[in-house]
Amino acid sequence: MPVLNRVSRAAASIVIVVGIVAATVVSASALGTSGLASSAPWPVGVAIDQRETVGSPASVVASEFSQITAENAMKPDAIQPREGEFTFTGADRLIDFAQAHGLRVWGHTLVWHKQTPAWFFTDPITKQPLTDSPADRALLLERMRVHITTLATHLSTRYGAFGSSTNPIVAFDVVNEVIDEWETNGLRRSEWYRILGPSFIDSAFQIANDAFNAGKTVDPPVALFLNDYGTEWPKKRQAVMTVASGLLDRDIPLGGVGSQFHLTVGSSPVSDVGDTLDAFATLGVEQAVTELDASVSGTVTPEALSVQGEYFRAIGERLMRHPELFSVTVWGLNDSRSWRTGAPLLFNDDLSKKPSYDGLRAAVSPKVTPTPTGTTPTPTPTPTRTSLIPPTPTPTATSAVPTQPVPAATVPSSTKVPDAPTVVPLKPLQISRVTVSGKLRVGQRLVARVPSALPTNAQVTYQWYTVKSTGKKVAITKARSRTFTVPKRLKRSTIVVRVTASATGYERAVKWSRLITIR
Ligand code: XIL
Repeated sequence: MPVLNRVSRAAASIVIVVGIVAATVVSASALGTSGLASSAPWPVGVAIDQRETVGSPASVVASEFSQITAENAMKPDAIQPREGEFTFTGADRLIDFAQAHGLRVWGHTLVWHKQTPAWFFTDPITKQPLTDSPADRALLLERMRVHITTLATHLSTRYGAFGSSTNPIVAFDVVNEVIDEWETNGLRRSEWYRILGPSFIDSAFQIANDAFNAGKTVDPPVALFLNDYGTEWPKKRQAVMTVASGLLDRDIPLGGVGSQFHLTVGSSPVSDVGDTLDAFATLGVEQAVTELDASVSGTVTPEALSVQGEYFRAIGERLMRHPELFSVTVWGLNDSRSWRTGAPLLFNDDLSKKPSYDGLRAAVSPKVTPTPTGTTPTPTPTPTRTSLIPPTPTPTATSAVPTQPVPAATVPSSTKVPDAPTVVPLKPLQISRVTVSGKLRVGQRLVARVPSALPTNAQVTYQWYTVKSTGKKVAITKARSRTFTVPKRLKRSTIVVRVTASATGYERAVKWSRLITIR
């Protein structure tokens, strides 16, 4: 185990910004305050290219999501098509857009066997493929270093230091799709592997950590991910676990593991997805869903889209058992923009919401109890969807894909709509900031604070959740307390804080904190 890394992280002071509770009227242009991302415990991302930075697609991205990934613009062939020729224009356009709209950016990707120009693996003089000779190995390693370092230097020059308020980059896929579960050591035989051997993964993380995090392993500003597809398959899941554990055992600065989750309705069991989330939660590093989509198999009919809606809801509910996820990203905005067939996304091409959107939205949204105007709202939140964060572990979900088509009407089309014929609409109560501070040491107290003024009748509830190394979630306290003592059993675990504010005449507001990781 990377002892130094984990011990020093465990003792690190933390200050986590969750949001300031403030009663504000949400204007139409206030981005991300009412969309899909607003009620989910984790940032919700979408893969985009420049087409989604203008016009109505841009409005949907900015209002529904809180993070973006460049679908292609940060891949090696886009950044350095010819050796020494760097083109940042496409990437900058997306990051500028994110910066302008307060969205986080997930970097994708540094080292991959696809969309990587052949020159990386070719001798510049003989034009022959590089071999595994010491000279060729040194050349390829240097090319990796130059590629990663030049990109990182550009990004910190243009957007300010990583981790600063002007730089929206929060994570990077350092290695993409390097796992092959059918190989004895679980590693894909790519050109990277053929020339450098298995150590290319270690090198990529070390170079990336120097470039993006100045070598910091305690609270690094950019989370460095190993990302792969098919992690829902048990054999692949196991291979990822083995490779990731090996990296951590060798003290390689692995920041997290990403599951792409390119799923198919009816043939990717929700239970497999859930088992992977539970397994990766035991690694003690961040975990993210990086490229979620779910294709309809066969003809895309209204019935099939309803079933897809139910499937997205079931997936969403399973994801909700992991409020500590770093982020959940869907791989594209609307169906015709997907790299897959089978209408796998959340929006139609006219940008209207599909049942898949409604299903996911229903799963991630805290249920709001209608509050009659003029009466005091219930101070303690009572989510009607018990699977939101169960206080005790819930049984593993089996595939929730119904065999019969489900009418669209069974998928809730929106949340936060009280049935009561309320005459005066409730004002929005927005939680935008809360700080959580304290020392991440066993026995220490963490304190959550709401730094700004609230309406005089407001009541704020704090709930602390943990994800133990088993991957199960336990509500430690559900009191109206603002302090939380770090117990022994939370080692190698994470903490998530849910803050709920209620006030007469206002809608209830809910915000989830970023996780605190205890190693
Ligand atoms: C896909 C893009 O969506 C397409 O536009 C492109 O033509 C090919 O790549 N796994 C990944 C992504 O890590 O980069 C891929 O994106 C989809 C599969």
